[in-house]
This record gives sequence, structure tokens and C-alpha cells, in this order.
Amino acid sequence: MSESINPGIVPKRKLYTGEEIPCIGMGTFGSDRFTSKQVSQAVAGAIRIGYRMFDCASVYGNEDLIGKVFEQAIDEGIVKREELFITSKVWNDMHGKGDVLLSCAQTLRDLRLDFIDAYFVHWPFPNYHAPGCDGDSRNPNSRPFSVDEFMATWRQMEKLHDMGLIRHIGMSSMTIPKLDTVLPLCRIMPSLIEMELHPCFQQWELYDYITSRGIQPIGFCPIGSPTRPERDITPDDVADITVPKVVEIAKAHDVHPAVVCLKWAVQRGQIPIPFSIYENEYASNLKCTTVDPLTKNEMTDLKTVECNNRLIKGQVFLWPGAKDWHDLWDENGTITK
Ligand SMILES: NC(=O)c1ccc[n+]([C@@H]2O[C@H](COP(=O)([O-])OP(=O)(O)OC[C@H]3O[C@@H](n4cnc5c(N)ncnc54)[C@H](OP(=O)(O)O)[C@@H]3O)[C@@H](O)[C@H]2O)c1
Repeated sequence: MSESINPGIVPKRKLYTGEEIPCIGMGTFGSDRFTSKQVSQAVAGAIRIGYRMFDCASVYGNEDLIGKVFEQAIDEGIVKREELFITSKVWNDMHGKGDVLLSCAQTLRDLRLDFIDAYFVHWPFPNYHAPGCDGDSRNPNSRPFSVDEFMATWRQMEKLHDMGLIRHIGMSSMTIPKLDTVLPLCRIMPSLIEMELHPCFQQWELYDYITSRGIQPIGFCPIGSPTRPERDITPDDVADITVPKVVEIAKAHDVHPAVVCLKWAVQRGQIPIPFSIYENEYASNLKCTTVDPLTKNEMTDLKTVECNNRLIKGQVFLWPGAKDWHDLWDENGTITK
């Protein structure tokens, strides 16, 4: 068994509410490749070795098994509920009035919790795809982003916060034009925003926009998601862990290039949420936040690795009449409302 890490020595991030949370969490999306059982067993192992933050979502289809793991770990005294920071997300087919509350109730049941620490709007529109679909699949009911629709969902999130069922509210896969339109309308501001962040996709403008407003970024696909679903793989994608500069720095620290991606993320300030079902991997991912930081020069060098390589393009969420996946990210001109 891998060496466990005292959660007390894992650096923390402070949210605008004053709450301190771990600087790293564990992802739980099995990428259509790993079973719910494998993922939940990894969560059990991760709690044992010192992880305290877990990124869940109803669409990952494994919250029921992960919930049993949380319950058992708490019952056995391995961890106290208040020491865990558990997140989940409302999926795109449950946006709007009423459904967000139903979705949250189901997640609370599945995760066997009385409250969720942070609940996210998984994507900013109600477009969804069939589980396990390929990259060419489209849903004819998909539609462009709508401020009114998004805010109807956000009001439900605020209601869940008022009810004490969620402690923080978050958004995910947003853009600056979308945030410009919705943030002024929020009664409760998001504490956290999930966004794709890895050395080859650093999103500086959005990162600075978010942090300058006191919102904490969470970086998904922090290792460049080498095991992501087929539908999210395109021929031009660059693999972060094979980029020469990342490999060179990994050699200098005698670690896997994946670990360099995580050290970079933590030292920059986002919370990475790496996924792995293998104990040696998830143990080294946690440990790396506590030892042997990258040098200032290495951090500067890693800035040059940026090549605007978005991996999760989201093309399966496109609506009839949309040009291409850049529309989802407001890159083909003005925002569609
Ligand atoms: N909000 C959103 O819309 C959104 C979107 C995507 C993801 N997420 C969240 O972000 C999490 C992380 O993203 P991700 O799972 O796509 O990608 P990731 O964490 O970047 O990559 C995961 C893969 O990296 C490899 N890996 C992990 N640690 C390693 C280590 N120490 N050494 C070598 N290889 C290592 C593993 O591959 P092998 O199995 O080959 O070892 C693993 O399957 C997800 O699980 C999910 O919770 C959120």
C-alpha cells in the first residue's frame, strides 16, 4: 500500500466565503472506460491515503457506489464528514425550474449525504447526448446559450443554497462573454468555476477574469486527459505528458510528466482534480503537492508550452445551424443569446 499523506500538510485554497479547501481533489469520471466499481474503489483508496476533496457528477453514473464508499469511510472513523469537500453537478437534461431540485435530491440520496459542499451547473446549456455516444452524434433539441434559461437554473441553485442542501454554488465550462452576462444577475456568486486547464491549455484570460473576481478555478483534465472518451479525441490534439519541456522537467524531478502537470497547476493556483484508478498514480498525485516544488524558472518555462489545445470541445452539444464547436466557446463572433 502507498504511503499515506497527512491531509493537514496538503496546501489549502481559501474561497471568498473564508472556507479553506484542499489544493487538489480527485476526479471521478470513468471516461466510459473504467467501471463504477473501479472508480468507487479508487475513491475508497484515496480517502485512506489522505484525499479530502472529490469531484463527482450525476452524469458519471457512479454516485451510488461512491456514496457507499463515503458512508463506510465515515462509519469506520477513517474520515469525518466535515473533513471532506464533496462536489457534484446537475446534468444538462435537468436544467430549469424544479428539475435542479430533483437532480440534487437524487445526488444527495446516491452520495448518502445531508448536504453537498459545492454543486455545479455542469454545462451552461440544456443540451445533452446519449451516454457513450460518438463524436458525430447530435441532439436535434439542442439550442444556443440563453441567459434566461441559465438564470432559471441558477435561481434553483440559489434556492438549494438557501435550503442548506448545498454550501457553495459553481459553474463549469463558462466563457468570458457568458460570465459577463450572468454574473451581474447572480444573487449568490459562484465560489468555484470548473474549466479545462493543463499546460497545453492555460486559458490565461479566463483564469485572470475568474480569479480577479474572487472565484476559485478548478482545473479539469489537468493531465491532458490521456484516457478521455473517443468522442473527445481529434487528430491535432497534443498530449501534455509527451511535450518535450514537460518531459525534461519531469526527468529533473524524477517524476512522471503527469506529476509535473499537477505541480504546475497547484503552484499556479487552480485546484486540479486528476483522475486515476491506480493507487500508485493517485498517491503520487497527492504527494506531489507537499514536496519538491517546481522552480520559478520551470514555472516560466511551462508558460511557453501553452498552445490553445482545448481537448473537451463539446461538439456533441451543438445545436442545428451552429457552425462548429467554436460556437460553444463564443469564438465565432458575438455570444448567441
Ligand atoms: N466540469 C466538467 O465538465 C469536466 C469535464 C471533464 C472532466 N472533469 C473532471 O475532471 C476529472 C479529471 O479529468 P480527466 O479524468 O478527464 O483527465 P486527467 O485527470 O487529466 O487524466 C486522467 C488520466 O491520467 C492518467 N494519470 C493520472 N495520474 C497519473 C500519474 N501519476 N502518472 C501517469 N498517468 C497518470 C491516467 O491514465 P492511465 O489510466 O492510462 O494511467 C488517467 O486515466 C474528471 O475525472 C472529472 O471529475 C470535469
